[in-house]
Amino acid sequence: MGTMHRLVAIGGVAALIVVVAMTTVGVGCGPMVGCTVDTDEDDNGDGTDGNDDAEKRDDADTVESIEDPPECETDDDEPLGLILSWKSDPTSTMTIDWHTDGEDSRRSLCVRRADDEKWRYRVDAQREEIPYLDRYRYRVELTDLQPDFEYVFQVGQFEREFRFHTMPEDTEDRPVTFASGGDMRDESGGRHGWFVDTNERVMEFEPDFIVWGGDIAYGDGGAADDHEELWLGLLDEQYDTLIDDDGRAVPIIAGIGNHEVRQGYKHRYGNDYEPTDEWREQESPYFYSLFVFPGHPGYNVLDFGDYLSIVMLDSRHNNPIDGEQTDWLESVLDERTDRGVDHILPFWHFTPYPNKTGYDRELPRLIRQNWAPLFEEYGIEVGFMHKDHAFLRTHPIRDGEIDEEKGVVYLGNGSWGASLNEWTTEADDWYADEFASIHHAYITTVAGDQIYSRAVDHDGEIYHGYGDEIQTDQ
Ligand SMILES: [Fe+2]
Repeated sequence: MGTMHRLVAIGGVAALIVVVAMTTVGVGCGPMVGCTVDTDEDDNGDGTDGNDDAEKRDDADTVESIEDPPECETDDDEPLGLILSWKSDPTSTMTIDWHTDGEDSRRSLCVRRADDEKWRYRVDAQREEIPYLDRYRYRVELTDLQPDFEYVFQVGQFEREFRFHTMPEDTEDRPVTFASGGDMRDESGGRHGWFVDTNERVMEFEPDFIVWGGDIAYGDGGAADDHEELWLGLLDEQYDTLIDDDGRAVPIIAGIGNHEVRQGYKHRYGNDYEPTDEWREQESPYFYSLFVFPGHPGYNVLDFGDYLSIVMLDSRHNNPIDGEQTDWLESVLDERTDRGVDHILPFWHFTPYPNKTGYDRELPRLIRQNWAPLFEEYGIEVGFMHKDHAFLRTHPIRDGEIDEEKGVVYLGNGSWGASLNEWTTEADDWYADEFASIHHAYITTVAGDQIYSRAVDHDGEIYHGYGDEIQTDQ
């Protein structure tokens, strides 16, 4: 376990290293799949034969040669599910999860550059049973990929080809656009279709990735039948609508909300709360199994070169707000500010500026008291909050007041695909710049030091979020 698998660099592409905690599985390669390795000399394109590493590695069984492809079955079925995400550098890595019933004839992934006809690598996957869902998750992390480049891959024995695009190293010539929102898909109590409707709107913007700000399937952490169905429904619709007709799968960066946890909030456990991986996986089993990011302890940061850092926080679902997490947040903001990262964007689930939740309740207050001062100190432009199921853009806020010059704008409040709420909080609406009870997703574009965020609703109507529209040739 915990082995680093270093595969041969083939065909003039950068070395591709696979780091997974896994048991190496003996694999076969069928002629239909054509999962092959080109062993021509000078494959590094730099005068070396490209096979130097092969002599050192001890995992030769992870790569098969076309010379003598072993017999194995292939079929034209598709995997039960597929989720792409990142746990490290999005400019050069991709983590690919696929789901099956576990009756697999092949447990590996084949990958090639989109400009190359031949499969160049086959990589064994880590296999793990997904709690309660009666399906298995296979996971591979590809590393040392070329930035801003398209790759094609097949998973397991399935013939369908998928593709992904790595993120650019900078955004001077190539803006990055992503969609975000929270409260993704609530189909409890009947079929609504809001998740799919928002997905279809979002895909019109061809996002480079999507951020889910908690309350993903409303399946909590339980083992009840309807919880399983809610998660399976989410996964099916994500597969159907967030992978385009060409097989391009939009990577997903997930955050935790109350509906990812059996009892919703850490404080509800009282003395039964345990700050351990085991406890978190027990209470939020789907979340930690299905999403590689943020991983433990439930909050994390993802750095896109020096142009974007997605800071994913946990609004007291698996961790306290104050103390360790807030200290961590400060160090993250400090380091990235020092480094001159263009856009540091925090995301979390619970709203500090509600349209429904009580403004003076403890949790919104804790977020305003612990995180908001750090956002202000480190010059964060905009924070993404969710939870209250409506569109809300705040005025720029600093020290609990409107500050047009130095304030932080908060964009919320969830409802990508959950039931809508009106303005029912007892709070004065001093902080609300614009409010609308609509299903929506934010579409954010970063280009150099510019950032532009707008929301799109089901009718395609655009609501201003933050910044000015970015003029670009692309
Ligand atoms: Fe929600």
